[in-house]
Amino acid sequence: MKKELIDAARDVMQFSHSPYSLFRVGAAVLGDDGKVYTGTNVENASYGLSICAERAAVLKAIANGVKSISACAVTTDTAKPAAPCGACRQVLLEFGPNMDIYLSGKSSDIVDVNLSDLLPMPFTSSELE
Ligand code: THU
Repeated sequence: MKKELIDAARDVMQFSHSPYSLFRVGAAVLGDDGKVYTGTNVENASYGLSICAERAAVLKAIANGVKSISACAVTTDTAKPAAPCGACRQVLLEFGPNMDIYLSGKSSDIVDVNLSDLLPMPFTSSELE
């Protein structure tokens, strides 16, 4: 499943709409229905409206009935893998605080990390009680 997720993230990167940054990102998440949902970054002429690949993938999964996510692959076409931005970490957390994250760049090297390490001491729904 790890390879499938990484391959899906690599595949979808071709559809990235990133004419401003020229930084293409692909993401794939594994839903509790066993399916893989992908997303790319989608930039906008009004720069602040751009959305990251990870969040695009999460929104697609949730809109298809997924309730929790157990893994997320993120890929870029840079030499070094890039980690999800802070906003994406928070959105991922909502659906899988302990999800596995696989990061990859151009090379075949994969960085495996757990979301709980990327976002320690998070703000969660338990804070709202
Ligand atoms: N980007 C992502 O898609 N995911 C991240 O976690 C970090 C940044 C995108 C946003 C923007 O389109 C481009 O990368 C440069 O910041």
